[in-house]
Amino acid sequence: MPELYASQIETLEELADVLEIRRAVFIDEQDVPESEEIDRYDGDPTTAEDAIHVLLHLGGAGGLPIATGRLLLDDPPGERAHIGRVAVLAQHRRAGAGRVVMRWLQSEARRLGRPGITLSAQIHAIPFYERLGYTARGDVFLDAAIEHRWMDLDFE
Ligand code: COA
Repeated sequence: MPELYASQIETLEELADVLEIRRAVFIDEQDVPESEEIDRYDGDPTTAEDAIHVLLHLGGAGGLPIATGRLLLDDPPGERAHIGRVAVLAQHRRAGAGRVVMRWLQSEARRLGRPGITLSAQIHAIPFYERLGYTARGDVFLDAAIEHRWMDLDFE
């Protein structure tokens, strides 16, 4: 596996790389409407305070952007943080990139004093999150016409 380099986005150019990956994965591949995919957490990273986006590059810093995810910070302090929009380009899946994205976001949440993570998992991705220690709860629900369940992870 070539080197994977994960970093928080800090520029509009990096935000464009993030949105290009999400467009390929969620809008083109999964048919999520653009109006639902892009939201208020996708603003200018030089001023945003309510979300941290991570971008994963293949081959080290400056390499090809292949995966992303984001941590939302507007839940009250003391509550689990929310991870969402985890996406790996189709041709780079099953090679550990998704796990690197998740671990980076989780350590960021831990560094910020959060006790754990809550996320809404697409049904097909539940085994991926279970491998990372998450537990599913509640009924299946629809979001963007895709079946989901809530999943939680509490840090030790
Ligand atoms: N079913 C079962 N196991 C899976 C899996 C799946 N769909 N996807 C990954 N895994 C397992 C891997 O085999 C690996 O197991 P290991 O611990 O035995 O090595 C582990 O989970 C980590 O996998 P990894 O290679 O890091 O995952 P990935 O890079 O393929 O990324 C997704 C996983 C879900 C992010 C990726 O498939 C994706 O982008 N899908 C489309 C977008 C999406 O649905 N995102 C989730 C929204 S909730």
